[in-house]
Amino acid sequence: MADFRSDNTLGCSPEIIEALRRASDGSLSSYGADPITGKLRERVRELFETDLEIFPLATGTGANCLAIASMSDPWSAVFCHADAHVYRDESGAPEFFTHGAKLVPIAGGDGKLHARDLDAVFDDILSTGRTATPGCLSLTQATEAGTIYTPDEMREICSIAKKHSLGVHVDGARFANAVATLGCSAADITWRAGVDMLVFGATKNGAMGSELLVVFGGAEGELARRIHRSGHRFSKMRFLSAQFEAYLTDDLWLKNARVANGMAKRLADGLRAIPSVEILRPVEANIVFARFKPETLTALHDDGFEFYDWSLFGPGSVRLVTGFSTTEAEIDRFVASATEHSKR
Ligand SMILES: Cc1ncc(COP(=O)(O)O)c(C=O)c1O
Repeated sequence: MADFRSDNTLGCSPEIIEALRRASDGSLSSYGADPITGKLRERVRELFETDLEIFPLATGTGANCLAIASMSDPWSAVFCHADAHVYRDESGAPEFFTHGAKLVPIAGGDGKLHARDLDAVFDDILSTGRTATPGCLSLTQATEAGTIYTPDEMREICSIAKKHSLGVHVDGARFANAVATLGCSAADITWRAGVDMLVFGATKNGAMGSELLVVFGGAEGELARRIHRSGHRFSKMRFLSAQFEAYLTDDLWLKNARVANGMAKRLADGLRAIPSVEILRPVEANIVFARFKPETLTALHDDGFEFYDWSLFGPGSVRLVTGFSTTEAEIDRFVASATEHSKR
């Protein structure tokens, strides 16, 4: 009926498939020395209104961990939200890539870190010099809870991190969804706010598999060597770059994200009208967390709707993710079924 399990279950934008096909014509230099990667670099510099370096990569986990490792020593602390993907879902990859840096999870409402909490946590871990040295702070934008940091929040959080000598990494698996909601420039929520490295995701928003590690302010250091050493240096890099180039052309990244965000809003608005359904988090991107009566969930699954149980947020909680190809008809069918089953 409709699949709300994840934005990773969806296919690709036709523009991206076509770009891959075009990139396949003829022979081009390997390992990023091709003209497609060169053009992408210029385009990303234009988008972020600054000089920067790019590293096209294939997975978010790899890109996050390479960024974090390049800003940390094995004896450093890496701070992140307690629900962060890097903390909960990467099988210890950040610890592996950093050779054992200490991940420090921080609680925060609505999946966000809050500036007021940070000084105390950073001091607690960093002040004696025995626990860990400063590594970096990792933020997720949009967050795993489907919420968003504003430019002001980013600036405030980054300035506290800098005060404690921490680099700032952003896991932007859903960066497009955040920019689409905020309507700000990409620069305002990254380097202008104090971000050093961004993993700019495309896979969840219409690409086949392409994540761009964007490094601001000349902080790339030995990143190229780390990427090579960990087996993430793509020989036919043009195919990663071609996907991203198409993603940025004619604002496909924002168009796709606006559809995904709009569908999440339509879904949340529809569900709010059902008295027994509770929306559990603000809906600011493309994820809706909701609580249903258990029998309603069973009936929805029986109707063929797919979504994941999210009992981390309490019994009866589920996560519903929309994407660039979600349709109004799919949302309306789900809301109609939920309304019907909730009456029983
Ligand atoms: C917020 C976030 N960051 C990173 C990732 C990791 O991406 P990948 O599965 O490409 O390694 C995911 C994947 O679901 C994610 O949701």
